[in-house]
Order: sequence, then structure tokens, then C-alpha cells
Amino acid sequence: MSWELAGASLKLIMAGMEPVKDAPLSKKGYWRVGGPADLMVDVNDESQLATVMDTDLPVTVLGNGSNLLVADSGIRGIVIRLRGTFRALAFKDPSVPSGLTDTLNSESGLAVVGAGMMNAVLLNKLDKMGVAGLGCLAGVPGTVGGAIRMNAGTRLGEIGSKVAFVRIMLPNGDIKNLTADALGFRYRWASLPNGAVVTRVGLFVSKDGYDVERESIREHLEYRKGSQPLDQPSCGSTFKNPPGDAAGRLIDAAGLKGAIEGGAKISEKHANFFVNTGNATAMDLYRLIKRAQDTVAEQFGIKLEPEVHVVGDWPEGLWPL
Ligand code: EPU
Repeated sequence: MSWELAGASLKLIMAGMEPVKDAPLSKKGYWRVGGPADLMVDVNDESQLATVMDTDLPVTVLGNGSNLLVADSGIRGIVIRLRGTFRALAFKDPSVPSGLTDTLNSESGLAVVGAGMMNAVLLNKLDKMGVAGLGCLAGVPGTVGGAIRMNAGTRLGEIGSKVAFVRIMLPNGDIKNLTADALGFRYRWASLPNGAVVTRVGLFVSKDGYDVERESIREHLEYRKGSQPLDQPSCGSTFKNPPGDAAGRLIDAAGLKGAIEGGAKISEKHANFFVNTGNATAMDLYRLIKRAQDTVAEQFGIKLEPEVHVVGDWPEGLWPL
């Protein structure tokens, strides 16, 4: 381990964290590929996060790895997972004069959610309280922070339209609260400052419309089950949909269903899902993604843009596509 890494590691330990060196990541991501992180550490609160930021090593946030392509040679610097207070849920309830509460008593208010909470856990908790508003996250794997970073969504809507504020920490340790306007949400895109870590999010929720939302979620999950290969390792949609069309339709029409590069394969069930058949490498996935992009461009003159987030130490010149 380099002196820089050893120094950073010591600093994290002094702040109560337990960094792991050469931490394997291949089991952490949905694609099951990628090399190790120099250091991986679970971070429990903003003070620990500030310590991580202060090490001067590059910081990569690992959410649930459900939309992440990690390079075969891994990730240099520190990979963090948001735990502890970053997994809390409270409500800002207009019927309660100040502060946060455990439940939403009035018809609508804000869910104040830690960025490390899984979308599914959040939806489950809200469901038990009869609170609606975030149906757009139904079936979306990953964490709330990850959902904000890419304005995740489905045909039921996008998370960006539910945002009241997003709290971030900048690389210099400063905290900022951004409004939805400042984040400029677009289809699968949000404007976050370079190196910023999302720590907490305020989302509009409501007791109104609970039954209607339940039903549309049920229908949507049925639709996904019928149209997506959810039983195989993938990162969901590989490419964003181009305006007015669908990446899955284009890759399918290009005749690429079932196409293979090493252990990576374009699903026969949904052509925008690229699956690991068992022994894929990150480079296999790169080759398949590039091949699909090139073929669709040749045949239809449309340049597909990857939706998956690419991280780590790749050979030069491969990304961005
Ligand atoms: N299609 C084909 N062949 C295929 C796959 C799709 O012709 O192999 C056609 C379908 O028939 C349909 C169109 O392409 O007419 C769109 O397909 P689909 O309805 O499956 O939706 P999608 O646009 O591929 C989007 C999201 C998904 C989300 C679903 C359902 C994007 C990039 N993807 O998929 O999100 O689950 O709608 O709400 O916007 C994700 O972001 O990872 C993701 C899975």
C-alpha cells in the first residue's frame, strides 16, 4: 500500500471508521464484474464523510451497484458506502410547528431521507404508513442518492419532480442545500457539482392518492416482470432512450438480441438489458455496449448514450462513448 493510502487509512480509523484495503467489488454490483477498490469504507455521518473528503484521495460513492460498470482493474482511491444516519427517514410535517417527526400526520409534507436508504426500503416504509407520492421509484433498484444523481424513473414518473431539496457535501467538506431548480433535472440527468456527495433528500409525499398509486405500481411491476429479464445479472437499461424512440426497440431492430461478447449477452427478452451469463468481464460489457452503439448508429443514424454509470481505472480512450 502506498504512503498516501496508508495515511488516509489511518485517518479514517482515527475517525472511527474501518477501511478495508483491496476490497473486492465484483460481488457488490448487479453486473458482478470489476476489480477491487484501493480502500472501501462505510461512512455513518457527515462528520465521518468530511474526514473522507479531507484525505485528498478520489472518492467514489457505491450505492447499491445497480447501475454501475466497474473497470476490471478496479477503483483507485476510496470507495464509500453511506450507512448509519444516511439511512434515516423522518418527516417534515406542516401540522407540526417545527423540526422533524416520525410520522406524517397531515395530508402532505416532506419525507426527509438519507441518501444511503434503498429505494425499496423507503417505498416499503411509506406503504406501511399509507403515504404515497414516490411511485416513480417502484421497481427501481439502488439507493435514494443514486436515484437523485441520475434522476431515476419509470413510466410512472421521475424522482426529480418530487424533490424539494437535495443536501450535498462538496469535496472541500462544505454542505449545501440545493433546490430542484438548481439541480436542473432532465431525463436521467441532474446537475450536481463535481465530486459532490448527496447526503440527504427532501421529497414531496402525500396521503392523498394512496390507493390509486398502489394500483399503478402493481400494474407497472407486472409489466416489468413480463418485459425485463429480472432473473439475470444486469444493470437494467444500458442506454438512455433517445428522444421519441426506445433504445431497446432500436437494438432489437438492429438484430442484436442474443449478441455475445465473451460472457456478456444482449438479453433475448429485452434488448436494452445486457446480462452477465456467468463469467463476463467489464471489458466484455464494454465491447458489447460499443458494438450495440456502433450498429445502431450505422443502421439508424442514432447515437445511443449509455445510461449506466462507468467508474474506475479503464484503459485510456475507451470512455466516454
Ligand atoms: N422494445 C422492443 N424490443 C425490445 C425491448 C423493447 O421493441 O427488446 C420496445 C417495446 O415494445 C416498447 C419500447 O421498446 O415499445 C420501450 O420498451 P419498454 O416499454 O420495455 O420500456 P423502456 O423504454 O425500454 C423504460 C425505462 C426502464 C423502465 C421501463 C418501464 C429507460 C432507459 N428505461 O424502459 O427503466 O423500467 O421504461 O417503466 O428509460 C432503467 O432505467 O434501468 C430501467 C429499467
